[in-house]
Amino acid sequence: MQPIFQIRIQYIKQVHEIKENYFVKKLVIPLWNMRAVIHYAVIVIVLFSEAITEDVLNNRRFPDDFLFGVATASYQVEGAWNEDGKGESIWDRVCHTVPSPITNNDTGDIACDSYHKYKEDVALLADLGVDFYRFSIAWTRILPTGFNNNINQAGLNYYKNLTKELRANGIEPVVTMYHWDLPQSLQDLGGWQNELIVDSYVDYARILFSELGDSVKYWLTFNEAKQVCDGGYGVAQKAPLIESPGIGEYLCAHNLLKAHAGAWRLYDEEFRKDQEGKVGIAIDTSWYEPFSYNSTADIEAAETKQQFSYGWYANPIVHGDYPWVMQAKIAVRSEQEGFGKSRLPEFTQEEIKYIKGTYDFLGLNTYSTSLINATDDPDPSKGWAQDAEVIEWQPDEWEGSSSSWLKVVPWGMRKILRWLKETYNNPRILITENGYSDNGTLADDKRISYYQRYMSSLRDAMELDGVDVMGYCAWSMMDNFEWLAGYSEKFGLYHVDFNSPNRERTPKKSAIWYKRVVETKCVVDDCVDAKL
Ligand SMILES: *[C@@H]1O[C@H](CO)[C@@H](O)[C@H](O)[C@H]1NC(C)=O
Ligand SMILES: *[C@@H]1O[C@H](CO)[C@@H](O)[C@H](O)[C@H]1NC(C)=O
Ligand SMILES: *[C@@H]1O[C@H](CO)[C@@H](O)[C@H](O)[C@H]1NC(C)=O
Ligand SMILES: *[C@@H]1O[C@H](CO)[C@@H](O)[C@H](O)[C@H]1NC(C)=O
Ligand SMILES: *[C@@H]1O[C@H](CO)[C@@H](O)[C@H](O)[C@H]1NC(C)=O
Repeated sequence: MQPIFQIRIQYIKQVHEIKENYFVKKLVIPLWNMRAVIHYAVIVIVLFSEAITEDVLNNRRFPDDFLFGVATASYQVEGAWNEDGKGESIWDRVCHTVPSPITNNDTGDIACDSYHKYKEDVALLADLGVDFYRFSIAWTRILPTGFNNNINQAGLNYYKNLTKELRANGIEPVVTMYHWDLPQSLQDLGGWQNELIVDSYVDYARILFSELGDSVKYWLTFNEAKQVCDGGYGVAQKAPLIESPGIGEYLCAHNLLKAHAGAWRLYDEEFRKDQEGKVGIAIDTSWYEPFSYNSTADIEAAETKQQFSYGWYANPIVHGDYPWVMQAKIAVRSEQEGFGKSRLPEFTQEEIKYIKGTYDFLGLNTYSTSLINATDDPDPSKGWAQDAEVIEWQPDEWEGSSSSWLKVVPWGMRKILRWLKETYNNPRILITENGYSDNGTLADDKRISYYQRYMSSLRDAMELDGVDVMGYCAWSMMDNFEWLAGYSEKFGLYHVDFNSPNRERTPKKSAIWYKRVVETKCVVDDCVDAKL
């Protein structure tokens, strides 16, 4: 324990210095809270003190009430982009831009044609045997103008039909209310950068709860807010492809968090009593592993990165405000850049109270791990990634996939889950996405291997670390439109023939494997019942 104790002392000393220099003397951010520092230091000790290696697959059954599912998202699978009164979304706009920013000029105009083939899809889900199906609702099908002055009944009917079909087959719908396809009309007003959107989103949420809440019991307000905001308004990697790093992504996040809280409170106050459902949010993150456990600086840098990543959204929702390390770093950099105040917007005390506690469970989308090095020479350019002042990288020799960012690091699953448990008071967690990309081959043994090792690591986290995980959702049910990568990266358990007008679905080897996992609640051939 000796070296770890030293790390803590040194760390608290550094934190005091930051506080002395910037918080008290210069910027006087009133939110300083010693408990947060100690909490942070404790996390550093608990979570980074032990290396995990997983050479052995976990052979214990998942609990009886553990839920297995698969996921898709509206723009990635539905097609029918301009049918039955649907309005234009920001992804329609991006895909129809000439020259196209999408690989091979691909679009989601038809995608998997799930809008017309939902009954066939549900039949496949029934055959897989999954407990739940996570899909998203296209805001533009329900409210073509973005506003609630014009409700499109045909769009609502599609989702009513889909949920009815799922229920008829004993499959629980898990509904993402926003999976990136913002109405273009709202983007024309600034999108997530305009606070107006908070009310628009809550109006939209009200329609979903009142129209679909009888059959939908699990809601996710947002999918991967980090991609929405940093991708959409920071680094231009997602629609609406706005490049405004260091400002745009923080504005977006500020509004998105208020919209999330507004929807959760609406449900809590007006719908929960009758509908008895649960509302959460799907936040994405990798696990960030310190390059060296011998380096205090690397350990702290990795924690900082994790706070900038998952903590950006989860910390306000669980604890009431942005992680203090984000507040401190961005305030200091903003001052150095000559800004009169921090580029990170501040919540009022009322807003902090309003946002805090607005979750029934936390969703985790996770695929990979990165190493984190501390640096004495941080990149001075503005932007969310730079503001963390760390170096993130993945060794070339790590096992890869068809996506450059997706390296196969199964032990990262256990570590991120343990971190969530410690950081957010042992929340109920749903793994809302996890999966592997390849070239679409039917003989997808590498996907099976990925799922098997990641799910084994997840089982370890539940069993050995006591993490409260309620379910696991594979991304994705079928090959689909992978954003800027078009159809070049395939994540499906089912193959889809995009050259055929019928978009035939064919189960891959992994679908057959996953079906067995769902049936046996076990990731190996021979399982024993859990002792816990
Ligand atoms: C994409 O469209 C552009 C025209 O905008 C065309 O020049 C180019 O060849 C197309 N690329 C592919 C891969 O089809
Ligand atoms: C929903 O189901 C009804 C009744 O079967 C059908 O008339 C309608 O076309 C369906 N709508 C959509 C959008 O699937
Ligand atoms: C950390 O220290 C241990 C023990 O001194 C040593 O064996 C190990 O190689 C070091 N690791 C790194 C990454 O420096
Ligand atoms: C991280 O630090 C290690 C040890 O100093 C070094 O070998 C490695 O190249 C660094 N990684 C990057 C991306 O700078
Ligand atoms: C796709 O990947 C599989 C398995 O890695 C490989 O055997 C196959 O040749 C690849 N197909 C193409 C078209 O690259």
